[in-house]
Amino acid sequence: MSVLNDCYESKRMSADEIAEYVKSNYICVSPSCLGEPPMILEALTKRAKKQEFENVKYHCVFSPKGWDFTNEVYKNRLEHISWFTANPARKGVQSGIIDYMPNHYSCVPKYWNEFIDNPDVFFAVVSPMDKHGYFSFGVTASEVKTFKEKAKYIFLEVNKYMPRTFGDTAIHISEITGFCENHVPLAEAISSEPNENEAKMGKIIAELVPNGATLQLGIGGVPNAVGMYLKNKKDIGLHTELFTDSMIDLIECGVVTNKAKNIDKDFTVAAFAWGSKRMYDFMDDNVSIKMRSVDYVNNPYVIGQLDNFVSVNSCIEIDLFGQVASESIGTVPFSGSGGQVDFVRGAGLSKGGKSFIAMSSTAKGGKISKIKPVLTTGSIVTTGKNDVDYIVTENGAVRLKGKTAKERAKLIISLADEKFRDELIFEGKKLNLI
Ligand code: COA
Repeated sequence: MSVLNDCYESKRMSADEIAEYVKSNYICVSPSCLGEPPMILEALTKRAKKQEFENVKYHCVFSPKGWDFTNEVYKNRLEHISWFTANPARKGVQSGIIDYMPNHYSCVPKYWNEFIDNPDVFFAVVSPMDKHGYFSFGVTASEVKTFKEKAKYIFLEVNKYMPRTFGDTAIHISEITGFCENHVPLAEAISSEPNENEAKMGKIIAELVPNGATLQLGIGGVPNAVGMYLKNKKDIGLHTELFTDSMIDLIECGVVTNKAKNIDKDFTVAAFAWGSKRMYDFMDDNVSIKMRSVDYVNNPYVIGQLDNFVSVNSCIEIDLFGQVASESIGTVPFSGSGGQVDFVRGAGLSKGGKSFIAMSSTAKGGKISKIKPVLTTGSIVTTGKNDVDYIVTENGAVRLKGKTAKERAKLIISLADEKFRDELIFEGKKLNLI
């Protein structure tokens, strides 16, 4: 350990010293979500404010803390490029201050390998070094393997609150340029109780999940609610982009065994996690969880090897053709593609697989139908009509695969709120769908 300790001490730096490495025109990257190093980014923004460099691009798939990069003061100096337009980057993207990168999450490593210049600086939060000299990227494996291989400089922010996990999350002290320490509790995402509609949809979907299925649950109230209604199932497996609190309940009560999986048997597989302290504690040193890169977890060809794969995701709007808009409200950017299409396609390749897109039939207190004759002008199609499988609202579930355009239109209308059905039928007739 003493050689390692010497090596460790020789690489210790302050966050300000790390930020000094960033020069004009550099590309900086950090992992999604809780992998973003707060202290290093503070130091970097301080330098940007002092105009110490220009044209630095900072890429992060999903940045929950909301760095102040939307401030005009950073324009042409430190510009954030978001790969998933959720809050808090949303406002910046909506106003055009923040640029974004269209992508399926599974393709992020490929983009960095083939289409984008190598990052100059990669910085990330890690758990403390172990006795073998390894740090762990903890709750985010998603894209770290690629960044590790591609970046010129690698800096870590060591945080004792970051759980030590296994899979594609290890990095050795010899691989890094330097590190600083910043021991702060990880931000928590506490999921709220599902509302009435979400609970109804959770129940409807859970009834269609067979014993032995492997699950992916996405972002939003419905995927969370599904977890609550699976308590009577047997031998469920988890292979999911996002690991959440509702999944821990299922593991702890013995519903999740991962026994029926064709690959990664006995293991829970995830790309990143965001939840409560209980979840971070559960993940720490837990050998039953493999945190893997998104080019593995979200790869439709990997997902397709798992029989009876079930994916559950949510959306903003659906039209009578079965086109699914999940990332904009009309022309206004709201979210990203994330892994939705990866999992819809993966479930499509799985023997016995099913993918569910679930949403309340209305928005804005029932005033707006989320089922439209055609998508609102400017809506971005996330899941296309040829990939979509089940659609679910609080009024039921319909399966669109193998149905003609006219059959689909009728089925989709049956899921709408009653007060909008006549209008949808009227518009459907104009489209020759009814
Ligand atoms: N018209 C107008 N407003 C709408 C709307 C519509 N058709 N659909 C939703 N909204 C509004 C809601 O009213 C709500 O507004 P509020 O916050 O003021 O109440 C807001 O948009 C969010 O809608 P909600 O249905 O509560 O969102 P959610 O938290 O369930 O998330 C998505 C839904 C689609 C944003 C989310 O699932 C997502 O980002 N999906 C894309 C990526 C993905 O699927 N990844 C999965 C792999 S992990």
